Amino acid sequence: MTVSDRTPAHPAWLPPEAFRAIGARRVLVLGDGMLVETVREEITVACARFGGQVRHRQDQAGERFDLVLALTGALPAMPTAADAGHPFLGSDAAIATWQYGWRGAPEALGGEGFVLTRREEVTVVLADEPRGLLYGLFEVVRLGESAFGSGLGAAIHRPAMRLRMINHWDNVDAHPVMGQVERGYAGGSLFWQDGLPRRDLARVQAYGRLLAACGINAATVNNVNVHRAETHLLTDRLGEVAAIARVLRPYGVRVHLSVNFAAPIVLGALATADPLDPAVRDWWASATRRVYEAIPDFGGYVVKADSEGQPGPFAYGRSHAEGADMLADAVAPFGGVVHWRAFVYNHRQDWRDRSTDRARAAYDHFVPLDGRFRDNVIVQVKHGPMDFQVREPVSPVIAAMPATRVAVEVQATQEYTGQQRHICYLGPLWSSVLRFAPHGPDGSTVADIVAGGGGFVAVSNAGADHFWTGHPLAQANLYAAGRLAWQPTADPTALLDEWIGLTFNPATGDDAEPVRRTLHLLMDDSWRTYEQYTAPLGIGFMVRPGHHYGPDVDGYEYTPWGTYHFADRDGVGVDRTRASGTGFTGQYPEPWSQIYESLDDCPDELLLFFHHVGFRHVLHNGSTVIQHIYDTHFAGAERVAEMRQQWHELDGLVDPALFTRVVALLEEQVRSAEEWRDQINTYFFRKSGVPDAKGRPIY
Ligand code: GCU
Repeated sequence: MTVSDRTPAHPAWLPPEAFRAIGARRVLVLGDGMLVETVREEITVACARFGGQVRHRQDQAGERFDLVLALTGALPAMPTAADAGHPFLGSDAAIATWQYGWRGAPEALGGEGFVLTRREEVTVVLADEPRGLLYGLFEVVRLGESAFGSGLGAAIHRPAMRLRMINHWDNVDAHPVMGQVERGYAGGSLFWQDGLPRRDLARVQAYGRLLAACGINAATVNNVNVHRAETHLLTDRLGEVAAIARVLRPYGVRVHLSVNFAAPIVLGALATADPLDPAVRDWWASATRRVYEAIPDFGGYVVKADSEGQPGPFAYGRSHAEGADMLADAVAPFGGVVHWRAFVYNHRQDWRDRSTDRARAAYDHFVPLDGRFRDNVIVQVKHGPMDFQVREPVSPVIAAMPATRVAVEVQATQEYTGQQRHICYLGPLWSSVLRFAPHGPDGSTVADIVAGGGGFVAVSNAGADHFWTGHPLAQANLYAAGRLAWQPTADPTALLDEWIGLTFNPATGDDAEPVRRTLHLLMDDSWRTYEQYTAPLGIGFMVRPGHHYGPDVDGYEYTPWGTYHFADRDGVGVDRTRASGTGFTGQYPEPWSQIYESLDDCPDELLLFFHHVGFRHVLHNGSTVIQHIYDTHFAGAERVAEMRQQWHELDGLVDPALFTRVVALLEEQVRSAEEWRDQINTYFFRKSGVPDAKGRPIY
């Protein structure tokens, strides 16, 4: 799947044709700055291709433009009657720019916002800062012809979240079993190859464009598990990070680095990494100063500490707040932030010990520290309390740290959702997390909480694969991650539609309408379909240990990882109630605390996450647990077989290479879904002895 640096990558959501509407027009770009140059460059290329014209000044009276992209600071003074002859400067379009009070009121737009409006047949994008202009350009790209139609109303666009981040789990060196990218399903790293930085960073540049076009503005380049070679990225291999930062900078993407908490020891400087030791603090301060000398707009550090074997402050009897604050002090003089991950739990627990509950761990470790983190620390919390399963409740940590900046972390790389061999569009899952209201319908949502400081982080699913993401349709997940971070209230189906419209373009021979219809059929509900044929009712972790692909119901049942389903002949599920279980439900505020506690009120899809019930327990949907398991597994696998049929209808209507790749992957998805169906059904039939009411084959 991997291609060399030189093979042009698939254009994803930025095929040249996506710029047709702009490129065929007369465009004026006003302003200065690196990102304004990026805008000019994009438009110049588009105009050269489609016959339009781009100008950098309006110097002739009467010169007309179809599209004006301008920094407010570059606009001429308030138009007067004398400007009347200038169709842009003296027109309603110009007056409109003042009318809304944008000029002199930068807080109205913010550093990344823009205004998009249309007056007197001129489409106008105004921004206070170059970043806003870049995002405005991509909004016009998304709109295509409709950006030039009379239906375009005036609107201010601003990102809901200031930090919209991608985390790469890339290693410099390839691991013999894991490959180069931890949980990567898209070939090697975009940044390193054979232990060395890639010399040709053209792919990284193309990646930066794609990130900007979906709204991502920050990226870590290396794995949260920081091994020896990657520890050096902070010091003697810093130049490699600086080179990536140089390429991503024109697209408004700041680079962050995952660092090893024990770096002072690993790099041979000190005998301790104790965060309160003055020598350790000095070491980090000077290492950080050098980072900022090389990368002046460096974003900051991401840290996985005291988690799954990574070093951390516990070794010195220090708290996570003490560890995080030490690094925060090092980056603070430069405006940097520390993303400190809350994924801290005991991965060496005894499966016999029913009192330890991994779901509780992040809350138990972090909530008592609320208010003790510096302002530039962001506690980065996985969206669920366990680990990116297809269905989990929203992590209770997100609502429980009001005095801390909190970010929510999702996994675009499909570790537990089909590993980019299965179609699984995750927009609906992430949207449900962002819309979740921890204090009930009248309270703030997860999106509101994380927008207040921490932002949205997605573990990247991209790599050196020609289609970027292994499964070509998994591109939609990367796209949706950025768009949801920008606008968390967006409808995920509408975002999918945007992605389809940009990616599958009539001008490249794709027959747009059937393609759009079929892709919606295949993808809209693909997350729920995946859920149907895999682990039922929120139980999770019925995967093969290690690589996590395919079913193995007891694979984790007697391991130290804290991921159990407790199935026996009578029933299944984890009792996490306060009344008789681990008490995890008590980590939620009302009303959820009570809803999850109550067997009657707990939503079906999370029943086995919160309760241990008998196989004949009746769900809200009227079915018993065991019959529901059978029904969903038959239905899910059947649905995947239909999806394979539906995809075949696109033969000849899309790029043949893409078509063939998806054909092969759907074969695997059908095989795998059947394997899941049969193993899950057989396992529960053998445990329970209850036959399928419909008499279908179970083994
Ligand atoms: C999962 C995943 C690991 C990863 C970890 C993390 O457990 O399997 O590969 O390192 O999450 O998020 O840190």
